[in-house]
Amino acid sequence: MSTLAPEAPLSVLLREGTRAEHQDAESEGFVSRLMSGGLDVAAYADLAAQQLVVYRALEEASAVVRRDVRGATLVFDELTRVPAIERDLAHLYGPSWRSEVRTLPATRAYVERLRAVGTRLPEYAAHAYTRYLGDLSGGQIVQRMMQRHYGMGDAGLEFYDFPQIPKTKPFKDVYRERLDGLALDAVGVAAAVAEAQEAFRLNRAVFVELGEAHPGTAG
Ligand code: HEM
Repeated sequence: MSTLAPEAPLSVLLREGTRAEHQDAESEGFVSRLMSGGLDVAAYADLAAQQLVVYRALEEASAVVRRDVRGATLVFDELTRVPAIERDLAHLYGPSWRSEVRTLPATRAYVERLRAVGTRLPEYAAHAYTRYLGDLSGGQIVQRMMQRHYGMGDAGLEFYDFPQIPKTKPFKDVYRERLDGLALDAVGVAAAVAEAQEAFRLNRAVFVELGEAHPGTAG
């Protein structure tokens, strides 16, 4: 359990408040099998298809949130993922990818949540934090593992490339400063931390369904 004071910076509260959820998401069967070479490119492609739907909803929320002065401080064009995911899917599924991808029920639930609350500042901060800081952190490890285990090159993995962010560490530091600079009140901070926990759970639920669809050789 976190013993941090509620006055701690939001970035710290988000990190500490989602430590257990991060552990759960990271150790979910689908993720560990994918990361250790027990699955195949088709499993990764299915994950990418889910990510497209999620990022469309997240980035639609970004477009709304950036109209607000405080919200605008959290929206960075260099983080935009939808075009990269679309290129990845065209590579992974071929030119008819749009008719081949399917959206899992857990992905639909994630998107419904984003549509319901994703344009409120604390909730947007929570969802954007969970995805973008994750992509800039563990995502970089995922990219290397896909290349190592499944013979992928750069094509199909553009999602993990941030060409305008050459070094992730300083960028993540700026992002955390922006989170802290939102100056949310106590109610907003509590909402943000609770929503980040929910965001991790929603991600994990997608992994569970992906795991059912891609059991791998170990069953
Ligand atoms: C393959 C599975 C994963 C691995 C190996 C992994 C690994 C990591 C590592 C090593 C860091 C720390 C990076 C640093 O200190 O700069 C990190 C941070 C983070 N990860 Fe993951 N991760 C995984 C899955 C996820 C998932 C599924 C999510 C959420 C959807 C996520 C969200 C985050 C976030 C938000 C941070 C930033 C924590 C902070 O500093 O506030 N990760 N991850």
